[in-house]
Amino acid sequence: MSMRILVFGMNGQLGWQCVKDLPGAIGVDRACLDAATPSIKDDLNQLLDRYQPDVVINAIAYTAVDRAEQERELAFRINADFPSQLAKLVAKALLIHISSDYVFDGHSSQAYQESDPPAPLSVYGASKRAGELAILESGANALVLRSTWLIGEQGQNFAKSILRLACTRSELRVVEDQRGVPTPTPFLVAQIASALRLNDKGPRGLFHLVPAGQTDWYRYAKHILEKAQLHRRWQSILRVRASALEAITTDQYPLAAARPRNSCLDTGRWKQVFGLEQLPHYQQVLDPVLDRILEKEPVPSQVP
Ligand SMILES: NC(=O)c1ccc[n+]([C@@H]2O[C@H](COP(=O)([O-])OP(=O)(O)OC[C@H]3O[C@@H](n4cnc5c(N)ncnc54)[C@H](OP(=O)(O)O)[C@@H]3O)[C@@H](O)[C@H]2O)c1
Repeated sequence: MSMRILVFGMNGQLGWQCVKDLPGAIGVDRACLDAATPSIKDDLNQLLDRYQPDVVINAIAYTAVDRAEQERELAFRINADFPSQLAKLVAKALLIHISSDYVFDGHSSQAYQESDPPAPLSVYGASKRAGELAILESGANALVLRSTWLIGEQGQNFAKSILRLACTRSELRVVEDQRGVPTPTPFLVAQIASALRLNDKGPRGLFHLVPAGQTDWYRYAKHILEKAQLHRRWQSILRVRASALEAITTDQYPLAAARPRNSCLDTGRWKQVFGLEQLPHYQQVLDPVLDRILEKEPVPSQVP
């Protein structure tokens, strides 16, 4: 059975991948629906009436983590009020919403389970928590997926920043004491597709969803540069090579918003639904995305 899938946030990392990989997906961009509009109800109802979707994927988010400390109201409008409206208005469809490891404070030494109490450290984290709660408490037919460290071909991400900085700076310092799991958007969308194939028997409620394995930002950056060093478009223009990357601590790199030191999420609940021993290791699903970024991303001009 083909499904009508409406994807909000079609130009972001995840939304773009959903539209690309899910048959029957129709993307909605910001020009069509601005999630920050206070009186969004009518616009949203019109869209839902027009497309009559079976599934609505909310990939819209205010993701400027540091700026959110200054723009609390806007962050909450997009990350909490908009999902809350969706939960009320998406009556006939399955609502799939994406949340974040930033709902946790990262103080645990273990990977977080869905039952662990959230304790966001930042405005962004608090707004994401408010959004997931609004959906989970609404009684809507919904799947809320918490993930970490997204990376896709489209949009901005850590890998693209590291490539740009390694070409334009003479030295590069990367934090080593924050752990997490790089989560390529094709992996996430493939898992969503598996859930949709189960139809009404598919997972509902809150799930953690990341590939297997874990790393830290420093080792992740090193891997990105090692691959770039072997790539014909990048090898001659990198000013900082993997071996020259400097590992630093979070305290040496102060930012406006605090980050969780541990962003690892336990995926036992998701694996149980699908009877899986293991999800693919992050390196297995990461390298194809890195290869495409290395192939397509515009090469920055070198700063003399
Ligand atoms: N990125 C990560 O590392 C990460 C980690 C964990 C969880 N998540 C969650 O995963 C989901 C997808 O993240 P992502 O990395 O794909 O985000 P992203 O690349 O920053 O994309 C966010 C999308 O939201 C749209 N948007 C923002 N404000 C809007 C508004 N007022 N009205 C309409 N659209 C608006 C953007 O539109 P424009 O293209 O027009 O700007 C963009 O399409 C989010 O829920 C995020 O919180 C992300």
